[in-house]
Amino acid sequence: MVNDGLLLATGLVYKQEKFTLNLDAKEVNNPHLILIGESGSGKTTLMLKLIMEMYLKGKTIFLIDFHGDMKINGENYIKYTPRNSPYGVNPFELEIDEDCGGVNIQAEVMTVMLNQYFMDNKLGKKQINILKQLIIDTYKINGIVDKDINTWSNKVPRMDDLGNLVNYIKKIINTGIPCNKKLLEESIENIKRYLPKELAKDAKESIEKIEETIDGIETNENKNKFEAIDINFYLSSSVKRVFEGLYVYLEDITKMTIFNGEKPKIIKGINRLDFSAFTQVNKPLIAKFLAEFTAQKLFRASMLRGHYSDLSNVPEGSKFDRVLVFDESKLALPHGTEKSNSFNIFNRLITESRKFGLALFLASQRVEHYSDEILSNVFTKIILKVKANNYKSIAKVLGVKEDFIADTFNRTNGRPAIIETNGNKHSYLIENF
Ligand SMILES: Nc1ncnc2c1ncn2[C@@H]1O[C@H](COP(=O)(O)OP(=O)(O)O)[C@@H](O)[C@H]1O
Ligand SMILES: [Mg+2]
Repeated sequence: MVNDGLLLATGLVYKQEKFTLNLDAKEVNNPHLILIGESGSGKTTLMLKLIMEMYLKGKTIFLIDFHGDMKINGENYIKYTPRNSPYGVNPFELEIDEDCGGVNIQAEVMTVMLNQYFMDNKLGKKQINILKQLIIDTYKINGIVDKDINTWSNKVPRMDDLGNLVNYIKKIINTGIPCNKKLLEESIENIKRYLPKELAKDAKESIEKIEETIDGIETNENKNKFEAIDINFYLSSSVKRVFEGLYVYLEDITKMTIFNGEKPKIIKGINRLDFSAFTQVNKPLIAKFLAEFTAQKLFRASMLRGHYSDLSNVPEGSKFDRVLVFDESKLALPHGTEKSNSFNIFNRLITESRKFGLALFLASQRVEHYSDEILSNVFTKIILKVKANNYKSIAKVLGVKEDFIADTFNRTNGRPAIIETNGNKHSYLIENF
């Protein structure tokens, strides 16, 4: 194809044929790229080479590292850990778009996300509704309400604010004692109303004393931020029971340091986000969550700045300036019914992120790991050596004969690869890096 760019491979049959990669070139429809290849075929090595090339071209790279093996020169290393994580994410950060954002939508999104990644999808319908209300109330306590868009730019709460609310409600349920002035006053009113007449006389003095005390704590209690919410919702017997089940989860989740750590500083260059501490302790779902969250945020941020071609200071001939990279992307890629969900973040990125100057590079072992949306929208596909039982599906995706795949990979020398760009498929040998 183009002759300026990075030399990646030489023709398998015709040695004078060179494959150079230039994703900014005019004839390249989109800057997305996928690698496929069995373990040991050279995916990580090639990906690191591509990342370095992007870096040298002045792009900002977000490298999602699930295994902790992607160390690269000049990187800004950001490691998330299960305990005492220095870095964290805040799921309360709002969509600020009036059409598709707001408290209620964010509460919905957060509820689905927490259930999926932190509770094994174990929440029932009632628990989901209560969790949603808890999230809406956490916003409310922090002065953010759905119906007033002006409040959306207030400082968003964090997961420990949700934790505080949950503990506050739990305390009331456990002790039966209301914890704010309004509820205490209501309780006294009830006592006065329902206390049998013969006792009321003896209790009169005590009740007056309590009323005085409530008055006395007025200044403190007025500042009780929990008064903003309707506590009675949580105290009704049906909600109370469901809340108890939810509490067991939320008590731990809201304390997780990945929610309460600092937001990492991103550099213009290579940012490696290492989630391997979670895959290593058998918490792949949390690694997946962090990856998806990062992808969502990056996509949102790219959309918000507007179309790439309309931005000022875009270098001549540049079509993108951000690259999101996943090596061993299987963990994060959509599977099952998610594969055909057009709202899935990968399916959205692959179809929409190009115009916002964001490229997606993915590597995985089998072609089946990729959704149809990904396979039909990625312009550059590099197939490194795969197992024989994969030839058929690869032939189908590339629209070539199985023999062509077999002929390429049944070689013993070098690192064979099939590269598809612009609908052309050729066999190559990958350069030594
Ligand atoms: N293009 C290459 N040039 C030289 N060595 C390579 C190349 N690709 C892979 N290797 C070597 O092969 C081994 C496996 O490569 P790796 O990139 O880790 O494969 P994968 O990520 O697909 O499992 C590594 O030791 C690496 O140094
Ligand atoms: Mg690898």
